[in-house]
Amino acid sequence: MRKKVSLITGAAGEIGQALIQELAENEKKNILTLDLQPMNGRSQTNITHIEGSITDKSLLDRLVSEYEIEAIYHLAALLSTRAEYSPATAHTVNVEGTLHLLELAAQQSEWRGSPVQFIFPSSKAIYGMPDLATKAAHPRVREWEWNYPTTMYGCNKLYAEMLGNYYSRHYKQLAEKSPVMIDFRALRFPGLISAHTVPSGGTSDYGPEMLHAAAKGEPYACFVRPDTTIAFMAMPDAISALLNLARAPQTGLTRTVYNVTSFSLSAEDFRQQVLKSFPEARITFEPHAKRQQIVDSWPMDIDDGAARKDWGWAPEFGLERCFAEYLVPNIRKRYQ
Ligand code: SER
Repeated sequence: MRKKVSLITGAAGEIGQALIQELAENEKKNILTLDLQPMNGRSQTNITHIEGSITDKSLLDRLVSEYEIEAIYHLAALLSTRAEYSPATAHTVNVEGTLHLLELAAQQSEWRGSPVQFIFPSSKAIYGMPDLATKAAHPRVREWEWNYPTTMYGCNKLYAEMLGNYYSRHYKQLAEKSPVMIDFRALRFPGLISAHTVPSGGTSDYGPEMLHAAAKGEPYACFVRPDTTIAFMAMPDAISALLNLARAPQTGLTRTVYNVTSFSLSAEDFRQQVLKSFPEARITFEPHAKRQQIVDSWPMDIDDGAARKDWGWAPEFGLERCFAEYLVPNIRKRYQ
């Protein structure tokens, strides 16, 4: 009999590491992890790691023949800064990789005769504000507004959301009877901040980088202007958002894609928060024109009213608690 598992792609990344902890250790699920990197330091019996790529079709075919995959948390992606250096590779990973996994989910659901849940983290990068005046005039955007991404990553995420919607609602719509049931659910995250891992390849990374540098006693030159404002969220809230959306009864969901957020602040306010706990921190501003342009195209805040109403979303860590109770104590421990 095939072993029933939840598949996590991009498992060695920032979200993946936090999610595994919750799913494997606290929920005691059988987990199949897939990543280009090895998963260091994890040896639980309910986690099987496969080192490989989501672009490797034959590898995915092998997984389908060996496991019964009941849920997919598809986290693997090239983030926004990295994707600008190799847009074609980003497209291959972020779009074609997602398509492969949706196909895998379709096959699994047909074989099982029951739905496969597909949980997908999208991003505020799918928004594109044309200029700073428009960004200021529309500070909190709804899901359907300003869907004009300016980065390869943003384009990829927006299209992947649409593919998910297609596979879950309209797949092979002209066939007599479509046997496929994919329960696709996506979240648009703001910039995520973890106390335990440092991000790489993103453009909202200046926030977490500032904080980790301060905790290590290293100077940091922030690559955006002090007034640059976007939304952020603590990693534990991102994990509960993913899990709570996954658990929500389908009948209450009015969308396939939901904004979720926690707090919004400028780079200078971020610096002030860091200084409260690390008064010696040496943080300066040296804006990088091109990365600045990307962050300027992202909205100041995103409206998560639909997630709050449909499945009871509410972040646990607002700005003050995020720094005082989650980030600062854990980061201090990490670099002690
Ligand atoms: N935080 C990611 C980045 O900056 C976007 O979701 O690329």
